[in-house]
Amino acid sequence: MTVTGIEAISFYTPQTYVSLDALAERHGIDPAKFSRGIGQEKIALPGPDEDIVTMAAEAVMPIIERVGSQGIDTVLFATETGIDQSKAAAIYVQRLVQLSPNCRCVELKQACYSATAALQLACSYVARKPDRKVLVIASDIARYDRDSSGEATQGAGAIAMLVSAQPKVQEVGAISGLFTEDIMDFWRPNHRRTPIFDGKASTLRYLNALVEAWKDYQANGGLPYDAFDRFCYHVPFSRMGEKANSHLAKANKMPNAMEKVQPGLVYNRQVGNCYTASLYLAMLSQLENSDEDLTGSTIGLFSYGSGASGEFFDTKVMPGYRDHLFAEAHKRLIEDRIAVSYEDYVTLWDGMDLTQGAPDTARGRFRLDRIEDDKRIYVDRNA
Ligand code: CAA
Repeated sequence: MTVTGIEAISFYTPQTYVSLDALAERHGIDPAKFSRGIGQEKIALPGPDEDIVTMAAEAVMPIIERVGSQGIDTVLFATETGIDQSKAAAIYVQRLVQLSPNCRCVELKQACYSATAALQLACSYVARKPDRKVLVIASDIARYDRDSSGEATQGAGAIAMLVSAQPKVQEVGAISGLFTEDIMDFWRPNHRRTPIFDGKASTLRYLNALVEAWKDYQANGGLPYDAFDRFCYHVPFSRMGEKANSHLAKANKMPNAMEKVQPGLVYNRQVGNCYTASLYLAMLSQLENSDEDLTGSTIGLFSYGSGASGEFFDTKVMPGYRDHLFAEAHKRLIEDRIAVSYEDYVTLWDGMDLTQGAPDTARGRFRLDRIEDDKRIYVDRNA
């Protein structure tokens, strides 16, 4: 069978953030509830001229600059912050990063899960056509109502993965465990900017889906629990990743090994939830924040999307993977950010009318310049 997986992986997050200490102070909450109770430090905030498309293009560009775009004939854009009910966000990215017009571009949706569906579809496709490559993009802005229990778990970011039959970073295993149940733990009707959710119930459904997907993975001939060197989970907030890790260990009657999950939570703590991108940010964080060389390590991934779908699968880290990462650039992106006050966070959260043009605040190359006749006009500063 053709080996398929991730040839390159890149991340982007906006320059602005609000600290959870500022949020706690404003709401009269003990800051430890956020730092320890949910395990988060910062909420990444996009500027008025940034959205899922500009973040996605920023994430893709380093891959194109290093590897080129030869062979890419498909862009799968996973998001639950869609900007249009009809047109796929992938098409804007295809133009901005100058991919061939002989390219299929689609958007996928199933809450935070859809990037995993995209990754699996991409692997199957390149197994059939090993000379082709697929760009899998996960880009989201996690926004909850202010003063809701979810407010502290907001964030924003994009992951881009080049999927091919020459996986230089990680091979994606062929066996998956799947689980779907029709529930209302978190959803966002078309007319709403923010989701409706039952926070506590959603955490329980997530843990249930993890065990059910794991059982299906085992039934399908998956690796035993002790074959895994690391685990990465969907991370709406980092304590959820820790809870998932101990839940899976308990279900397997094994001791809870926090060191198998911890390096994968470093970036998420600083960025916040980025829905579809969160699991892959955790995976990237494992690769870029583990002191030891992970070559040959087996990493288990659990993807969860409310509503709800879960999938458990395995990946193997390739020899020389470090040479194909963008670790220094990612660390700079996370370190070189600007904290805003609670008041400025509220202004950004409220959004603004962009018909007269958006203020130029994005740190990246791509900007949403304005919305004209309901058309989103993106610009490339280098054009
Ligand atoms: N010091 C230390 N810890 C403290 C503390 C303090 N002063 N005060 C509270 N805590 C602890 C609590 O003991 C609790 O710990 P445990 O979970 O281990 O019991 C933790 O902090 C959280 O406290 P609460 O349960 O009181 O917090 P809450 O009800 O205000 O919010 C939440 C928790 C419901 C998960 C909320 O963050 C939320 O609604 N989030 C949005 C929904 C979500 O992320 N769901 C996750 C599963 S669904 C999913 O994953 C899809 C997705 O991306 C949305």
